[in-house]
Parts: sequence; structure tokens; C-alpha cells
Amino acid sequence: MKKIFIPIIITSSLYTFACAPTTHRIYLEHTHTENHDLSATEILHREFDTTRRVLQILENAANCLEDDKPVSKETFNEIIDVINGYTHKCHLEKEDKALFPFLKDVRGGEKKDFLGQLLMEHVSARDEIRNLSGAINYIYQGKKAKKKIIKIARAYIKFTDKHIHTEEKVLFPWINKVLTSDEQLILIRKFEAMEKEDIDAGVHEKYTVVIERLEDQLGLCPE
Ligand SMILES: [Fe+2]
Ligand SMILES: [Fe+2]
Repeated sequence: MKKIFIPIIITSSLYTFACAPTTHRIYLEHTHTENHDLSATEILHREFDTTRRVLQILENAANCLEDDKPVSKETFNEIIDVINGYTHKCHLEKEDKALFPFLKDVRGGEKKDFLGQLLMEHVSARDEIRNLSGAINYIYQGKKAKKKIIKIARAYIKFTDKHIHTEEKVLFPWINKVLTSDEQLILIRKFEAMEKEDIDAGVHEKYTVVIERLEDQLGLCPE
């Protein structure tokens, strides 16, 4: 009986804890797992859906600024808050504090340089957002200040797109190949433990509402 009940409980908790509860994907690389719903990489991959929405919001805000359409300092600060408090906290922290140390533990020095590169890219992404935050303070001080904001925002979008692509094409397939389904389950539990406080406090719901509002507000300035 246990064999029947345990997967059901874990699958339902997966939807409760993942940052971006959208329809889940099935990967060809998952042939080693008995149940496709139990993949830790799938949780991480689904979070890209939210990240991409936030990148689109930032791109629209940059376009608005470039076209002299109304976009305020407060709006940019809200976008930065979503990136820091939701997309970065939710996704990058899972990788920095759970995934990478776990891979080091169970796979030794394998792909050490590659994982180090990804970790450094997270540091750079946070630096870019800090730069953006600083530049936004001068948003009302002329064309030069606006250009700087647009440049940093687009650099961050490009950089994050590339990082996502690397994880989708190299990191996740590799993890799916080398980790057993039990190891993926351990990772899922680590993710759950990390997010429990935010889930209980309704943090994800709060940011989801902000993202939807920003999408409506900035939908007028697509490329
Ligand atoms: Fe990632
Ligand atoms: Fe990453």
C-alpha cells in the first residue's frame, strides 16, 4: 500500500511548493525515473515560465522608457522587487543553496568548472540588478540617465536568457542522467524546506498578483 500512497502525497506537495505552478513538462531525459512528476529539474524548469514573464515585463518597461511613454521609478522598483524577492530568491537560491552543494556531494568534482560558472553567473545576475536599481534613482534626470537604465535592463535580459538556455540544454539533461530518482526526491524535499516559510506567508501569491498587474500595465510597450 505504501508504494501507492507515497507518490500521490509527494506529487501533490510538488504543486504546493513549486514557485511557478504551471502545467508541467515531460522530458525525454527522464527515462531513469519511474514517475515523471517527481523530477527536481522539472520544478526548476517550470520556474523559468515565471522568469520569462518577468523578463518580458522588464523589456516592456525599457521599451516604454525608450519611446517616452509613461513608466515611473516606482514601476521599475516594483519589477526589481519581483526579481529579487521572487524569481531570484525562488530559483537562484534553490540552485546555490541546495542543488549545487548536493551535486558536489553526490557527484564529487564532476562538472566542477561548469557548476562554478553557473554559480558565478548568478552573482553577475544579482550585480546587474543592483546596477539597475542604482540607475533607476536617476530616471528623471534626462536622456543619458534613461539610456543607461535601458542598456542595463537589456543586458540583464540577454544574460538571463543565455543562462536559462544553458541550464535547459546542458545542466538539467545532465542531472536527469546522473541522479537517481531517490536523489531527485531528496532534492525536492530540500526545495520544499527552503520555501516553506515563504509559502506559509503567502509570498508567492503576493508576487503573482504583482506580476499580473505589471503585465497589464506595461502591455502597451512591447517591441
Ligand atoms: Fe536555474
Ligand atoms: Fe541558474
